[in-house]
Amino acid sequence: MDKELPPTLREDNLSEETKTLVSSLPWEKDRLGKLYNYQGCWYYANTLQGVLNFQKGFKPQDTDIIIASLPKSGTSWLKALTFALLERSKNRSSDDPHPLLSNNPHGLVPFLEAVLYLKSSKPDLTKLSSSPRLLSTHMPLHTLHVPIKDSPCKIVYVCRNVKDVLVSQWYFRCAYSHKEVDKNILESLFESSCRGVGFYGPFWEHVSGYWRCSLEDSKHVLFMRYEEMKAQPFAQIKRLAEFLGCPFTEEEEHSGSIDKILELCSLSNLSGLEINKTGKTENNVHYTNFFRKGEVGDSKNHLTPEMENKIDMIIEEKYKGSGLEF
Ligand code: A3P
Repeated sequence: MDKELPPTLREDNLSEETKTLVSSLPWEKDRLGKLYNYQGCWYYANTLQGVLNFQKGFKPQDTDIIIASLPKSGTSWLKALTFALLERSKNRSSDDPHPLLSNNPHGLVPFLEAVLYLKSSKPDLTKLSSSPRLLSTHMPLHTLHVPIKDSPCKIVYVCRNVKDVLVSQWYFRCAYSHKEVDKNILESLFESSCRGVGFYGPFWEHVSGYWRCSLEDSKHVLFMRYEEMKAQPFAQIKRLAEFLGCPFTEEEEHSGSIDKILELCSLSNLSGLEINKTGKTENNVHYTNFFRKGEVGDSKNHLTPEMENKIDMIIEEKYKGSGLEF
């Protein structure tokens, strides 16, 4: 059973040093395995090894762009949009198919701790696209910051209403563990998330860390919201392009370039591509699992009013005075 899980969730790739560290950390068991609390955040052991490898070995370049999120917050979409925005400057010939047509956003924008540094602190990064390098993470900001705090690289964070995140996580978990969609799994995810326990949680600390930094250092950290991207995709992609230093020209705006990128990166387009119907991530997760409904408020169809109230109260308490509202 253990072997069928993606490597990020397993506990079979730890150095002796990490085994010693792990034995001293607080832990909790969930349905997939043991989660360990490191620097205030919960990880499965192999992912923690990836985090440690990253903190030890990553050397930022000034032009790096890092997409950050909690899992199931719209990471794939933001990766696709960011990739497509940067691809404009590459002057691809019109016969050359767009890379997003033959590769999944996760293949084009790899995760630091969960892919590149999962097994080594010195991965070969020469295969990454040249400057700017596009990278991604689910680590909280204080952990990501360890090797990059003095770097001017840019971070784009996408935040999504945690109720929809929970439902999305539930479907994703059931899909990759080849299980029927089972309400008990949703209930246990809900219960542990409310206690602050869960892969990359507590969610409120993850979100608040990036939110605060985006207010203090808006040149380097952009805070985006899935719901705003859905409601005003045109305005939000322009905001993203400006932050990345590649704003749309007037000509591009009038010639329909923005619409083309939005269409290319839409859920219906991406999910219909052969690569996304048949391919898998490096960690053996089918790309199809990253595309579902993509709706705002789907949690209403699955969470009870009591569950919704409980999360609303947690959100209200944890984000009080921060300026963050849901
Ligand atoms: P749902 O499960 O609510 O449908 P992530 O990319 O962080 O893993 O998040 C996955 C969620 O984003 C899923 O939400 C998925 O359907 C949605 N999603 C994936 N691609 C999208 C796109 N191009 N546009 C909008 N939503 C997308």
